Amino acid sequence: MSVRVVVLAAGQGTRMRSALPKVLHPVAGQPLVAWVVAAALGAEPDEVVTVVGHGAESVQAALPAGVGSVLQEEQNGTGHAVLVALAALGDVEGDTIVVLPGDMPLITAATIRRLIATHQEHEPALTLLTTRMADPTGYGRVVRDDAGGVAGIVEDRDADDAQRLIDEVGVSTYAFAGSELLRALNAVGTSNDQGEMYLTDVVEILAAEAAPIAAVAADSSEVGGVNSHDQLAAAGRALRERINLDWMQQGVSMVDPDRVYVDASVQLAAGVVLMPDVHLQGATTVAAGAQIGPSVFAQDSQIGPNAHVWYSVLRGAEVGDSAEVGPFASLRPGTVLGPETKAGTFVETKNTVLARGSKVPHLSYMGDATIGEDSNIGAGTITCNYDGFDKHATTIGERVRIGSDTMLVAPVTIGDDAWTGAGSTITKDVSPGALGVERSVQKEIADYAARRETQRRTRE
Ligand code: UD1
Ligand code: MG
Repeated sequence: MSVRVVVLAAGQGTRMRSALPKVLHPVAGQPLVAWVVAAALGAEPDEVVTVVGHGAESVQAALPAGVGSVLQEEQNGTGHAVLVALAALGDVEGDTIVVLPGDMPLITAATIRRLIATHQEHEPALTLLTTRMADPTGYGRVVRDDAGGVAGIVEDRDADDAQRLIDEVGVSTYAFAGSELLRALNAVGTSNDQGEMYLTDVVEILAAEAAPIAAVAADSSEVGGVNSHDQLAAAGRALRERINLDWMQQGVSMVDPDRVYVDASVQLAAGVVLMPDVHLQGATTVAAGAQIGPSVFAQDSQIGPNAHVWYSVLRGAEVGDSAEVGPFASLRPGTVLGPETKAGTFVETKNTVLARGSKVPHLSYMGDATIGEDSNIGAGTITCNYDGFDKHATTIGERVRIGSDTMLVAPVTIGDDAWTGAGSTITKDVSPGALGVERSVQKEIADYAARRETQRRTRE
């Protein structure tokens, strides 16, 4: 007797008015369907399969390894989707079939486990997950008989005025006895407002047969479906709240958690401080004692202990122990800032390694550069790394002093302890300990101001 979970994710999501399949819309860094599948896996069933259809290949690509998929070529409704899944699952006699909608990202593994446990304890034909919604609009209403037993689910669009007042709703989440499900599904028709096979009809079919139906109540905060962009935003808010609360309990400090956006994939250490308007995405990690923000966007970046990053954008960058970034720095992929380094105000870096103690404090672009320890890059310095055809490297040694407004025309090497004169365009290597200077000799035109004044007067 196995527990097999079917996640429904084949629909287009017409109400999203988007070319992207609905279940691929991201919330807190993961597509909707990935949240549902993760919760399903967390309940440790024997198998998880996802029904895909609209945008099948991209939905499949969003599933974790080990999660199978079944193609529903035409999306003829939730009942049809489950029928297609059952055909692929083969013999389900004696199995528990759990069905989850792919658009309910807030569901937790604990609730799915509770549904399965209740179902296995009583072994009815169906155990239905329901909730009470303050505003049940859009949800299927649970119709109960005089004895309080579940008699069916009626879709919002098919409900009459009295049924619309019911606040107990079905949330497209069920645990079925496999053989009962298969039998009832084969009796489902398409006479409804959408002309589709509704999975909800199975409930009425089983109830009419007086098959035993159990119900498990879920907290309404977990079971909101996402059918529109406002529901997507609400789910994002709720997930962020959950993620932030979890990190705060693990010792991360947040000045204003409502303005902190940490993806599910991000790792934080205790002792990290996050200021408002921080967005941490992808494989980003932040080590203890680092202070991030205000206003930082960091994607796939590693931020070391005690680093300070503010008002900056980091993509694929590494920031070392006690390094300083910003305000207004842009660290692009391949940036490695060593310990105690600085990439300061209006500094852009790409594929650049800064060794311990080196600083790029102001208004510079460092691309394809390697900078040794304890060097200082003067304000306004640019690595001219692109000749219109290829990118070239700039190599700067240790304890180098690059003068302000130096143009380093790559490929070029500046030796250890060397200097460049402010305003120089350096096209040749500079030897260790030397000063490389390239600029015309300054001339002085005496009494210039007086001559201008005379010119002005003669014009009047
Ligand atoms: C569904 C339920 C409704 C419940 C609500 C909870 C039905 C008929 N209605 O309505 O009772 O209150 O969820 O959120 O079941 N899908 C497929 N193939 C299809 C059609 C849909 O895989 O042919 C998938 C969708 O991708 C989606 C899920 O099934 O992930 C639910 O479909 P959706 O259109 O969102 O149904 P609702 O109108 O929300
Ligand atoms: Mg839905």
